[in-house]
Amino acid sequence: MSPKGATRWSNLSRLSGERSSTWAMRCIGCGEAATMEPSDFHCMRCGDLLELRLDRRLPTQAELFGSNSNPGIWRFGRALPLGRSVSPISLCEGGSPLIRSSKLGPAIGLSELYIKNEGQNPTGSFKDRGMTVAVTRAIERHAKVLLCASTGNTSASLAAYAAKAKGIRAAVLVPAGNVATGKLVQAVAYGARIMRVRGNFDRALEMVTEAVRRDPSLYLVNSINPFRVEGQKTVAYEIFEQLGLVVPDYVVLPVGNAGNISAVWKGFTELKSWGISNKLPKLIGVQAKGAAPIAEAVKEGMNSVKAWKKPKTVASAIKIGNPVSWKKAMRAIQDSGGTSLAVPDSEILRARDDLAAKEGVFVEAASAAPVAALEHLRKVLAPRSTVVCIATGNGLKDQESVKVDLVSSPQFSDETGLLKFLKE
Ligand code: F0G
Repeated sequence: MSPKGATRWSNLSRLSGERSSTWAMRCIGCGEAATMEPSDFHCMRCGDLLELRLDRRLPTQAELFGSNSNPGIWRFGRALPLGRSVSPISLCEGGSPLIRSSKLGPAIGLSELYIKNEGQNPTGSFKDRGMTVAVTRAIERHAKVLLCASTGNTSASLAAYAAKAKGIRAAVLVPAGNVATGKLVQAVAYGARIMRVRGNFDRALEMVTEAVRRDPSLYLVNSINPFRVEGQKTVAYEIFEQLGLVVPDYVVLPVGNAGNISAVWKGFTELKSWGISNKLPKLIGVQAKGAAPIAEAVKEGMNSVKAWKKPKTVASAIKIGNPVSWKKAMRAIQDSGGTSLAVPDSEILRARDDLAAKEGVFVEAASAAPVAALEHLRKVLAPRSTVVCIATGNGLKDQESVKVDLVSSPQFSDETGLLKFLKE
């Protein structure tokens, strides 16, 4: 008999794009290989998180980056867990542009500053990379109801991929009054069931995690689901490829629940351990001043992270006080020789406006945090270093904090008035 909430590993042993590849699921704490896939993705021995690892038949550079006809991030199928019984549920995610900064970088002495614009994914955020893998896995497990807690983007992404798949429903739990309207509009349009919690994101995540423990037929797609991490790691492959098979010196990204920084690190460490690259980037995790448990732990030289009870920031996507993947994030920061820092909301909003007005890239507030951090990192970043800021989400869906005054702009009823105005 399987313990309640666990699926036998025999399902996972079929996982593979290639007959001879082997995926293992291991605990990040005690290292124990999991023989079951628990519904809450926590180790049944010590309670820590689980991760997936490709153990045999590691991809070569040609296999990973060679062309193939797979959709979206599944072009990296050799490095992704996919059973032979299913086809990917894809909306052609990934392949986002890496844009060289023309003004903001040079203004602070960085000639090699790049913005990886993840806002160009199908639902407007990096979440789509992970969601395609998690939803595909859910289909393989014959799940019918997919569940997540979300500050907005995860819910929009889950809703879209559930709509694309057959026979599944999405249910999303969001903190009441704390999600950008555009993200909720997306989730509604894609047909998800929206549920609200009186409380913050951290409470919502606790609730959905307990729900899947009590009812294992529900399938959880938050970033504690290691299949999500596998999809999100592909951003590292793309950065390496877009820089001409070169690893950047620094990758700077916003940190909330800390799944993405863990995924980015996994991608780069895989490239190195598979002999495809020869170095690793330093990772810099940026948080908002009012929601900065990881930045606090790094600043105070602690090895563990203390949860913040009342996170507060205009960057609602990263308004998180108890990051569930903190251990993986701390390891990524420490092992890479990077750091974590917090920036005030005023600087986040200024960076958001600058990115739009000076680079032509409109991002949401949370996604501007890395650019806001650059000013504070001037002493750390050597002028010739290659720095990639990950712009995690599109500005179009988080407009509440954008100040626009359309009312006082001039109105014309004929061309003469228009031309006169343009000459002024
Ligand atoms: N940037 C954006 C735009 C996000 O939506 C998130 C997280 C992050 C950064 C932080 O990523 O949690 O992996 O450290 N959004 C989640 C959500 C929590 O529900 O959409 P993280």
